[in-house]
Amino acid sequence: MKKRRSSPKNAPAEKPWFLRQKTLEINGGSIDGDRNLRPGLYRTTAFALGSFERGRRLFAGEERGFIYTRINNPSVDTLERRLATLEKGEACIATSSGMSAVTLIALHLASSRGHIVASNRLYGGVFHLFREELPKLGIHVTLVEKPFDLHAWEKAIRPTTKFLYVETPSNPVIDVFDIAALARIAHEHHIPLVVDSTLSTPALEQPLTKGADIVVHSLSKYMGDGEVIGGALVGTQELMDAVRLSWFRDTGPCISPDNAVVLCYHIESLFARMHEHCENALAVGRYLSRHPKVRKVFYPAFGPDARRNKKLMPAGFGGLMAFEVYGGAKKAKIVLENLKLFWHAPNIGEARSLIIHPATTTHGQLTPKELRHANIPEGMLRLSIGREDPKDLIYDLGQALSKI
Ligand SMILES: Cc1ncc(COP(=O)(O)O)c(C=O)c1O
Repeated sequence: MKKRRSSPKNAPAEKPWFLRQKTLEINGGSIDGDRNLRPGLYRTTAFALGSFERGRRLFAGEERGFIYTRINNPSVDTLERRLATLEKGEACIATSSGMSAVTLIALHLASSRGHIVASNRLYGGVFHLFREELPKLGIHVTLVEKPFDLHAWEKAIRPTTKFLYVETPSNPVIDVFDIAALARIAHEHHIPLVVDSTLSTPALEQPLTKGADIVVHSLSKYMGDGEVIGGALVGTQELMDAVRLSWFRDTGPCISPDNAVVLCYHIESLFARMHEHCENALAVGRYLSRHPKVRKVFYPAFGPDARRNKKLMPAGFGGLMAFEVYGGAKKAKIVLENLKLFWHAPNIGEARSLIIHPATTTHGQLTPKELRHANIPEGMLRLSIGREDPKDLIYDLGQALSKI
C-alpha cells in the first residue's frame, strides 16, 4: 500500500503558529473540546470521582481530573491555563490573593530553616511577611538594602538560601530591576529567581522569558480591573504539581470559581487597558515633573535611569507612580484631601485613578529607618493612574497642588 504524504511533495514545512499576547489573553490555554465561548462558572464544591480505582488514582496524583474545589476546579483551571500561556510558563496555580501566592511559594521552597534573599523594595504586606511572620516559622529573609547593586545580592546568599525574590516594578517607588542579571546570579548558586510581576502584568513583561523561574501575581490589581481579589504562581508543571499536592492542598488558599471567571473576563482587555494606563501615567508624570511644588516624581520614564529602564521594559511601565511634595507629610495630606477626581483608596490598576500616602498606609508596617532605606519619603503620595482623560487628572492635581 502507498504511503500517504501529510503535505505535498516539496511544499514548504508549515510554520508553527505562535499566538501573540493580545490573542492569548482571549484564547490562551483553550483546550481541544472547549465548547463555551465564555469561561463557564462551575460553582460546586466537589466532583464525581467515577470508579473506586479512579478515586484512588486522582487522590494519589496519578491521574489528572477534578476532585474538590479547594484543590482544582474547571473555572479556576481556565484562568490558570490562560495565565500560564500569557506568562510563557508551563503551569499555574491561582490563589485566593497575591499574599497567599507569596506565602505559598515561600513555604514550599524555604521551609523549614531555609533562607530567602529579597529586594527591600517590596509591597508593605510582603515586607512584613518576610520580616515578621516567616522568621516565626524558621524561615529567615535577608532584605537587600541596595538592591540595584548585584554584588549586594551575591553577598547576601548563604548555603541555606532557597531562592531570590524581587518585585519589579516595585511598589510604591516603581524601581525597575534587571531580571536577567538576577536570574544569572540565582542560577550560579543553583537556586530559583521568583519575580513578583504584579505591576507589569504579562502585557508589559514576561519574566520567565528573561530567565526567572517562578512568577508571582496579585490578580487584585490590573488583571481584575479592581473587581476581585486573587493571586497566582506560574512555573514548571513539576513545581506547580508539587505545590498543589502539598502546601496548597493542605492549607487551602484556593480562589473561588466566581472570582476566577470574573478575572478571565477582565484579562480579555488587559492589553488595551495597560496601554491606556501607561499613556496616562506618562502624561501625568510629565506634568508633575515640571511642577514647582513637586520635589520628585517616581516613574521609570523620568530621571537619570530613564534610558536603562526603557531598555529593560520597552513596552511601558504601567499606571503606578508616586511623587514627593515639598513640605513632607503635612503638605502631602493637604494635596490628598483636596483632590476631587482621585479616590483615596488602597488599590492599583483600576479604571478610576487612586491616591494614597504609603508611609502611613500600605507601607505603615515599615519602621522610619526601613522607610528611608526603601526610599519612601514622608511627603510621598502614590498614584494609581486610571483610564480617565489625562487632562482631567492633570487639572485635578493642579488645583490640589495650588492649595499648598
Ligand atoms: C506588588 C504587590 N504584590 C503583592 C500584593 C498583595 O496582593 P493581594 O492584595 O492580592 O494579596 C500587592 C498588594 O498591593 C502588591 O502591590
